[in-house]
Amino acid sequence: MGVKEVGARHAVPLLQIENLSVKYHPDVLAVKGVSLTLAKGEIMGIIGESGSGKSTLALSLTRLIPSSVAEIRGKVLFNRTDLLSLSEKEIIHYRGKKIAYIFQEPGTALNPVLTIHDQIDEVIEIHQGVNGRQAEQRGEFLLREVGIPHPEELMKSYPHQLSGGMKQRIMIAMALACNPSCLVADEPTSQLDVTIQAQILMLLKKIQKEHGISMVFITHDLGIVGQMADRVAVMYAGEIVELGKTEGVLKHPKTFL
Ligand SMILES: Nc1ncnc2c1ncn2[C@@H]1O[C@H](COP(=O)(O)OP(=O)(O)O)[C@@H](O)[C@H]1O
Ligand SMILES: [Mg+2]
Repeated sequence: MGVKEVGARHAVPLLQIENLSVKYHPDVLAVKGVSLTLAKGEIMGIIGESGSGKSTLALSLTRLIPSSVAEIRGKVLFNRTDLLSLSEKEIIHYRGKKIAYIFQEPGTALNPVLTIHDQIDEVIEIHQGVNGRQAEQRGEFLLREVGIPHPEELMKSYPHQLSGGMKQRIMIAMALACNPSCLVADEPTSQLDVTIQAQILMLLKKIQKEHGISMVFITHDLGIVGQMADRVAVMYAGEIVELGKTEGVLKHPKTFL
């Protein structure tokens, strides 16, 4: 047993962020030399006050901030491939596929004039190359997986007919469409009512466990990070000022927490 554990600790991390810096033009240094690793199946919580650089860090991992907006430096190794050195054509195999995102505002990512059916179908057709009834079945399977027991009905709805919690479930289903090995969740529940928030967090944890997905989980809520994360990184003014096992960091914070 002991040997196995040692082996696991030394396994190559799924994601290895090395000295990542992000400067918005002309001169806002939002992320300053961040280094972090994420093991397979691990949840890394990132906590910090508003403006500390959490979202910038999340978006930079797959270069979701265009070079016309910011300069990204450093390395983001995903299974040893440096995503920051890939061409646009190469990085699309990672962005949204191997590394999928869930954002704070589920509404904004959905197209108001298309039914849920059409939007889910589109994601599945683009990413998985299946269509027709096969895509539909895959869509229904994904919706059941995110706790929507009768997806046929919901499929006919438009986004404005759905609650925030339901829309976030749909975003999670879409994020799962490509079987990602990493999920980046940026404050995924901060717009939701407390009871719905708890349900979505439970769902994320269940999915993460069942699929062995690694997760970068961003929040400004200490209670939530305590509930979700294996390890926590505390960000302040673009830097990681503290990093460790969640329990240790929350019980004996060295910084301002
Ligand atoms: N497009 C942008 N152009 C210039 N500065 C930005 C832009 N987006 C964010 N920033 C700045 O970068 C810093 C980090 O922001 P952000 O990553 O959104 O922090 P957080 O997610 O922790 O609230 C802030 O000072 C913010 O004002
Ligand atoms: Mg943010």
